[in-house]
Amino acid sequence: MKRFELLANTMADDIRSGTRPVGSRMPSVRQLTTQHGISQSTVFRAYYLLEDWGLIRARERSGYYVAPGATLKNQQAPRRPLTLESAKVEISDLVFSVLDAAKHPDIVPLGSAFPSPQLFPLQRLAKSLGHSSRLISPWSTVVDLPPGNEQLRRQIALRYMGMGIAQSMEELVVTNGALEALNLCLMAVTRPGDLVAIESPGFYAALQAIERLDLRAVEIPVDPVSGIDLQALSDALDKHPIRACWFMTNYQNPTGAALSQERKKALVELLAQHDVPLIEDDVYGELHYGPTYPLPAMAFDKTGLVMHCSSFSKTLAPGYRIGWVAAGRFADKVQRLKLMTTLSASIPAQAGIADYLQHGGYDKHLRKLRGSLHGQLAEMDAALHRWMPDDSHWTRPSGGYFLWVRLPPRVDAMKLHRLAIENGISIAPGPVFSARHEFRDHIRLNFGHPWSDRMESAIRTLSTLLARASE
Ligand SMILES: Cc1ncc(COP(=O)(O)O)c(C=O)c1O
Repeated sequence: MKRFELLANTMADDIRSGTRPVGSRMPSVRQLTTQHGISQSTVFRAYYLLEDWGLIRARERSGYYVAPGATLKNQQAPRRPLTLESAKVEISDLVFSVLDAAKHPDIVPLGSAFPSPQLFPLQRLAKSLGHSSRLISPWSTVVDLPPGNEQLRRQIALRYMGMGIAQSMEELVVTNGALEALNLCLMAVTRPGDLVAIESPGFYAALQAIERLDLRAVEIPVDPVSGIDLQALSDALDKHPIRACWFMTNYQNPTGAALSQERKKALVELLAQHDVPLIEDDVYGELHYGPTYPLPAMAFDKTGLVMHCSSFSKTLAPGYRIGWVAAGRFADKVQRLKLMTTLSASIPAQAGIADYLQHGGYDKHLRKLRGSLHGQLAEMDAALHRWMPDDSHWTRPSGGYFLWVRLPPRVDAMKLHRLAIENGISIAPGPVFSARHEFRDHIRLNFGHPWSDRMESAIRTLSTLLARASE
């Protein structure tokens, strides 16, 4: 990382955590040059970056100030009391009904889990698929069985190397999307009845996996800005025989929260003390708006306890269903489970993605995709400012494509969801992100679709439905 990026990232952490509150003046250029022994141009470049990320604004002749919405300290829901009791999970009916409602192509997809397919290089990818399929050896059906296509695993290992992480190809297992990777990891380290720590609010598939495998969930609160509450996790580890954790460390679904590097390191250290494996769900890490991939927790892992799961579903090829796990010390077990359950990921899809990674310009595509998402965030943020009442609040994440909105008091997210569907709009209501169906005053909005009048009008319609959705 260059010096200006380092400075910008440190200051971004301070802003997001509220150490530098909204409206406060940033240090002057002169202060920073003397304090850090750096040049004026380094400071300016750091400030331009922070401006680009929407975290600070320049005021004429007065300097830089923390932008409204940059820190979420003053926007969060009141801190909830910790509920560290374990729960049996029954979430599927609710999730299926919400997902079903959002399927229709005419619905405005604010509740969708995917970005727009228009943002993906489908033609170029099809070329790679065609080219590599023609070259596939008949033996690849045998050779590419788990852990998976060698060329693909080499390309994935190279991307880890680009982040400064030495990841051996042998510990990479290719899966049917990240979801299979996450599920296999969970199966590898638990038995029915075991306790698993998950996030609250958190990704509903974690709840469904826990339900399906007859596990029990311990919900750990997530702060919409700084991420998982480490103190609560530490208390839970002391109190319960937790067998595994399933957490997102970058651009968490649904809040968009990202853990700072220090907190990722502290998380890994805490889990190492208790010898508890971490299933790290990092499907949005590549969608960072800042200059570099925020290192995942696995980068700080010294004991092989972290299983890092990701995929190409959110960044390149949603329908190909290709994901992977860097499974650390559990790689053999995960690989065997993969063989016992679905045998292998699609051989042509693995070969196609491997070819694209090598020749298709993935990094260029990612830069464009990140720029589009960042721009769409600005559009949605502005529309929410235009239409939503003052007593509603939302996060402004630094990557991914989800916003977590706290509705005005007494508005019920489930009622709003039903009214929205009647009006041709899908939203993801808060209760689907919790084992206890909490967060009735929250919704998740997707800004992964190019901005349009239709989106603007959907936000306006949502704002007019709030009164009818009140209890
Ligand atoms: C947080 C999170 N993890 C994992 C997945 C699943 O990824 P994949 O489509 O690669 O299976 C999703 C998809 O919605 C997700 O939002």
